Amino acid sequence: MEDSNGGDATDHYWSGSPDIGSRPRQVELLLPDLDLRLTTDHGVFAADRIDRGTRYLLREGPQVREGAVELLDLGCGYGPIATVLALRNPGARVWAIDVNPRARDLCRTNAAAVGADNVVVAEPDEVPVDLRFDACWSNPPIRIGKAALHGLLASWLDRLVPDGSAHLVVHRHLGADSLARWLDGQGWATVRRSSRKGYRLLDVAAGTDAPR
Ligand SMILES: C[S@@+](CC[C@H](N)C(=O)[O-])C[C@H]1O[C@@H](n2cnc3c(N)ncnc32)[C@H](O)[C@@H]1O
Repeated sequence: MEDSNGGDATDHYWSGSPDIGSRPRQVELLLPDLDLRLTTDHGVFAADRIDRGTRYLLREGPQVREGAVELLDLGCGYGPIATVLALRNPGARVWAIDVNPRARDLCRTNAAAVGADNVVVAEPDEVPVDLRFDACWSNPPIRIGKAALHGLLASWLDRLVPDGSAHLVVHRHLGADSLARWLDGQGWATVRRSSRKGYRLLDVAAGTDAPR
């Protein structure tokens, strides 16, 4: 199955086990404004392609508002979202975080290869605790399970500036609509920006009690 978070539940693409063999290869990320070649490898999400959901997010997501300084790619994988955000917003810094060490290495390599020197690749715990984000973009790791996903999203959405926003791509079959309802119910006003072939682009507003 090729879709956001594709692969079966035993993939554990987020574990980044060093035991997984390495076979680097390149994929092309073609967008109206950019044409990038990115290196991928075994053991990371969508290793043989640009995920359709990711491409959709990058094509249909909103422009980052002018003056934005800190951007977050939550679950960067090999870096398709982080690199594009960084190239489109050279005045901003893009935090690309992932628990998978191989994904982080690839993201670092890819950012350097495309000249996106405003990408900071980090483990989640390495992000300074007082840092606040103007926007978060993510093809989130649905396969970690609902409770873990909710906890993950809650922890990072709480770090948006008061007028910040998050832009998530999730497939309908992977619970996009119930996730949107959950987010909304938790105080992060969520609207469906658009929908295509089962993918939902969700715009999520910072909570009203976001720290100032
Ligand atoms: C659906 S993939 C998206 C990868 C990449 N952004 C893309 O679009 O190809 C989700 C990513 O989230 C990462 N992830 C899983 N749990 C995480 C966590 N607790 N914190 C940060 N990233 C996590 C996974 O390793 C995976 O790379």
